Amino acid sequence: MRARLDYRCAMNDNTFVNHPPVVDVPADNRPLVAPIYQSVKFTFDDVGETLRSFRGERDGFFYSRNTNPTLRQLELTLARMQGREDCLLVGSGVASIAATLVSLCKQGDHVLAFIESYGPTRYLVQHLLAKFGVTHTLLSALDLPGIERVLRETPTRLVVFESPTNPVTKIADIAHLTAQARRAKCLTVMDNTFAGFHNHGGYEVDIFLHSLTKFASGHGDVMGGAIIADRPLIAAMRKDVVTMGPTLDPHAAFLIQRGMRTYPLRCERQCANALAVSRYLSGHTRVKRVHFPGLDTHPQHELARRQMKDFGSIVSFDLDGGYGEGNRFAEALQFFSITSSVGSTESLVMPPQLLGGQEYTAAQRETSLIGRGTVRLSIGVEDAPDLIADLDQALAKAFSPSLKTT
Ligand SMILES: Cc1ncc(COP(=O)(O)O)c(C=O)c1O
Repeated sequence: MRARLDYRCAMNDNTFVNHPPVVDVPADNRPLVAPIYQSVKFTFDDVGETLRSFRGERDGFFYSRNTNPTLRQLELTLARMQGREDCLLVGSGVASIAATLVSLCKQGDHVLAFIESYGPTRYLVQHLLAKFGVTHTLLSALDLPGIERVLRETPTRLVVFESPTNPVTKIADIAHLTAQARRAKCLTVMDNTFAGFHNHGGYEVDIFLHSLTKFASGHGDVMGGAIIADRPLIAAMRKDVVTMGPTLDPHAAFLIQRGMRTYPLRCERQCANALAVSRYLSGHTRVKRVHFPGLDTHPQHELARRQMKDFGSIVSFDLDGGYGEGNRFAEALQFFSITSSVGSTESLVMPPQLLGGQEYTAAQRETSLIGRGTVRLSIGVEDAPDLIADLDQALAKAFSPSLKTT
């Protein structure tokens, strides 16, 4: 065993600053907030213990691309929140989708994905996996007979889906999907970013994905992604994912861990605000339709009630107008910033012209329900009356171009 270096021993400055004093915290004197292990490398005092650690025969860390104590704390937190055994962290939500698809699929496999899936998920399935000889079928998430038919007739490796979908909050029937997938011996991958860690854990979904950039961190100041599943699946994917190198930085993990301290409180507030906002919007004469699963006018309200503990905090609606009204509305808002992303403490708006789906065929666009007047709101933790008053004045300005939008 190596002796620890005494920093008081004779050494010159360049040597000393690279071997600074080590400050141990006594075992009975723990910090209440875990420190950030901003260290790429961890060392053992002897080679034998290093090898035992490599072989999984003892606890320990070696290189932070694999994991480190700060990352591990977050992995364990998120796995437990989602009701699964283990988790892999990556540098963004998109990295969690890409790494999962690439790790689980091989040439000749078939993937079932949906028209309503997040744009980059569709891109990965339609373009990236296709380069490696993986075929796909794209259906509507609501096409239950189509899903049954494809899974019965075409050997399928993965079903990748979301619920509620972005932006119009369609609800996938998770029990139906997972039952069909199990019968077809196919894995289910659910991007659960919109619904959150507290939802859907009771369903037989094999792998949950999350963009930690959104509700987990909650403050719009850090990016991250998580792949969450039971131990055997995470163990099967770990080597592939780690070797592709989409590591989460420990400082980012620390910020996300801190965000998780208020995750339930923020979600509760955001969901309550979203319900209040959606009720207000449904009573407005210039709003043709509100897409929010918490409203009993939502076509899958009953399914959402069965599946979810709350209804999320994304509210979309169709203005009685087009791009012009949509732009004027968004520009007139004071408390909603015009930008992408969701799940922050502050409210956000995406006007119709900025909503994705440009690559849809005409038929896919019709299925997507994204129209020229569709607006997406991500509702924050502000006071609901302020948000409603802001929406009210912006709607008035959108339809009265003579009113100034300052
Ligand atoms: C449902 C969903 N999944 C994944 C992502 C991607 O997350 P990130 O921006 O962290 O890569 C997003 C981003 O908007 C999203 O809405």
